[in-house]
Order: sequence, then structure tokens, then C-alpha cells
Amino acid sequence: MTLAPTWLSGDAWRREDSQVERLSDPRFFIELAQRAEAAHLDFVFRPDSLGAPPPGMAKRPGGSGSDPTLLMTLLAGHTSHIGLLTTASTTFFPPYILARALMTLHWLSGGRAGWNIVTSLDGQRNFGLDEMPSAEDRYARAAEAVQAIRALWQTCPRGGETIDRGAGLYDSATVPEPIKFEGAYYQIEGPLGAMGHSAPLPLFQAGASDVGRGFAAGIADGTFAACPDKAAAIELRADLRRRAEAQGRPADAVRVMPGLSLFLADSEAEAQELYRDTHAGTSRAQKLAKLTAMIGLDLSDWEGTRNITAADLPPLAKGLRSRTHAELLHRKIARSQPTLDELLAAPEVLGSAHWQVIGTPGQAIDAIRDWADEGAMDGIILFPGGSVPCLDLTLATVPAALAEDGRFRKGYEGRDFATHLGVAGQ
Ligand SMILES: Cc1cc2nc3c(=O)[nH]c(=O)nc-3n(C[C@H](O)[C@H](O)[C@H](O)COP(=O)(O)O)c2cc1C
Repeated sequence: MTLAPTWLSGDAWRREDSQVERLSDPRFFIELAQRAEAAHLDFVFRPDSLGAPPPGMAKRPGGSGSDPTLLMTLLAGHTSHIGLLTTASTTFFPPYILARALMTLHWLSGGRAGWNIVTSLDGQRNFGLDEMPSAEDRYARAAEAVQAIRALWQTCPRGGETIDRGAGLYDSATVPEPIKFEGAYYQIEGPLGAMGHSAPLPLFQAGASDVGRGFAAGIADGTFAACPDKAAAIELRADLRRRAEAQGRPADAVRVMPGLSLFLADSEAEAQELYRDTHAGTSRAQKLAKLTAMIGLDLSDWEGTRNITAADLPPLAKGLRSRTHAELLHRKIARSQPTLDELLAAPEVLGSAHWQVIGTPGQAIDAIRDWADEGAMDGIILFPGGSVPCLDLTLATVPAALAEDGRFRKGYEGRDFATHLGVAGQ
């Protein structure tokens, strides 16, 4: 489940019962992690942003820029089993710093850290750059960083595996040697002086362009996927399975975990109302601006009832903020020729292109069963939306119902993140 408080998103924070005041209280996040652990979830997840909030967000609750790895370290001390999936960018953080912070979280949490590897959407001006490096360059850098980080992790002592006082040897099996890493982007001598942990540290990735998929297929144990519909998820999962095998890994090496945005209430009508209220404050001009940024076409003088087709679209520009999101929008237009009004209400424009269920818990559970049966996913990342009652309903119903029909655990079988996911040694 996400720790980005999506149930406060849009206008939801303005509700009387939003508890938005608690957003600045670290105990808010501790309670969330403990509730997710009580539901036996594999992990809590925190995305990250190194850039300014998007225009129009200024009047909404912030905090998304707080360091997710430090937050996870706090949660490690207040939980015992749940995985702690943090997000960190290889575009802006040097590998040595990443390797050290992630392995320290892993050690402190007893093997529960995971890393969502991102190459970032923006933030360049906070790091002395005018332009974002190209996606190709960012992924090449990411691949090299992961290689170096894994080598650095190999040098970490596991903590007293062999202590021979007589011979003066501590952890003789892992006497740290320099790694002498020489790459195109990084030169790192090593070793890393941090304590290690014997459990593998699961790697996730987000970004599903051609180059992003190639990167995931080579190194990731899981991918955080934006899949607004089942066909998109089936295509992504089948493609990642093929690509993983082509790179000499098992077909199921990369678990596809779509984000699932949930607007749940006791009746479908209430859920629809919750969704409408959440997005009521997003103006047509804001939606049009987002659409223009993604497809490179200004539709502000179009009638809302006019259909848009693939022929209306210019080719995808280079240097897009997220090629994944732009491609998803292109795909939607090519497949369904929506009207402009329909497009402006779609999750690809209104949200982050995630799979969305607006309805009762029963409808959400049926949709999850359907996607799982159709080979569209290996797991999900829950994004409760619109209200605290929706968050409560999600945690109270979805995991238990899936556990009841054997699709999800009834209790933890291990204490480290890799065991929850079924990830073998790296
Ligand atoms: C579903 C999804 C979630 C992402 N989450 C983050 C994030 O939390 N922080 C971040 O800096 N970048 C994030 N990204 C950006 C990606 O890491 C990547 O830089 C971007 O999508 C460009 O890669 P692409 O060309 O493969 O789309 C995310 C991308 C996707 C598709």
C-alpha cells in the first residue's frame, strides 16, 4: 500500500473527517504502517519527488518531498514484518550514497528494505542542470549504478557470521575488498563500510517505455506499473516475461504490480460521489494543460463532444516528462477515439494513469480476481483515494477477502521482504 496519502488527494483533504492536520505528525505514518502490517501486506511503499509540486498543487497539502528512505527508517523501528519499499533516483544520487542508505535501512529493519529505482521526471534545477538528461542517458546511468551498488553490497559484512578472536578475524567470509568499479559514469573504489544483511534486498522499477522495460527485465524483482486498463497490464506483463527470458532470467523474475486507485464506499452511488467530490476542484483549464503537456496538442478550443483520433495526434516528442504516461494516452486515443470530455475525465489525465475502481469493496475484489485470473498482474499497489473512510474500507475488506479465497496470505511466513515476495538470492 502507498504511504503517499492518496486519500487526501484532490479536494479530499478539505473534508471535515480528512485528519489532514496529522500529515505533519510522524505517528500518522507509523499507524499506517502498523495497520498495513496487521493486514499482512507485503510492503508499504513511498514514491518520491525531487522537483517542485506541479502547478495547481500549491494550495494542496504537501510533504511529498520528505525523504522516503529516512521515513522508512522510522517505520522500521515500529513494525516487525512488513516490507519497506522506498524510492530513490539514480539520476541524482551517487551510487555510493544510495548503496549505503539502502543497506543501512535493510540492516536496521532486519532485511525488510526494498528499492524502487526511478530515473526521475524532473528536479534537474535542484542539481545544477537546466534540462533533464534524456531517458536513454538516465537508464544507462541507472543500469551502471545498480551494477556498482550490487558490487558494493557484496562487500558488506553480514554481522558476525564468523568471529575468530584468536586469529583476529571478524566475518572472514566477507573481508571487504575494494570493488574498483570503472564505468562510463562512475568510478568507485569501495568497499562499502556499512553493515549488511543476509536477505536479498528486492529491487523495483517504475517506467515502462521500451528502454525502461529493458532495464526492468534485466534487474528488477518487481515493477510499479501504470496500467489504466487490463489489456495494457496483460501486454506489459507478457512483454516483461519475454524480455526477462531473453536476458537469461526466469520468465516470472519481474513481478508486475499495477497501482490500483480505489474510490470505495458502501454503495456504488456513494463511491461515484466520492470520486466526483475529490476531483471537483480541478479546473478544465488545468486538465487541458496537463493533456497538452502529454500529447503536444492544444485542444482548448475544441468542443467537449468532439472525438479525438490517432490521426489528430502529433508524433511523440523527444524529451517528454514521462514517455510511459504519454504512450498510455496515445494508446487510449487510438483504441477508443474518446470525446474530449471523456478524455479529460480519464485516469490518464486526471490521475497518474493507474487502474481505477470506483464502487463497493465487493466490486474492487471482483476486479482484482479478474485481473489475476487473466494474467494481468502478480500483485497490486493499493492507492485508496478520496477519503479516510475509503482507506479504512480498503484495509478492512480487500486483503481479508483475497486471503479467504487463497490468493493472499493469512499471516506472514517470514520476516524479510524477499521472503514475502518470493525473491531468491541475488
Ligand atoms: C508508475 C510510475 C511511477 C513513477 N514514480 C516515480 C517516483 O516516485 N519518483 C520519480 O522520481 N520518478 C518516478 N517515475 C519516473 C520514472 O522513474 C522514469 O523516470 C520516467 O517514467 C521516464 O521513464 P520512461 O521513459 O520509461 O517512462 C515513475 C514512473 C512511472 C511510470
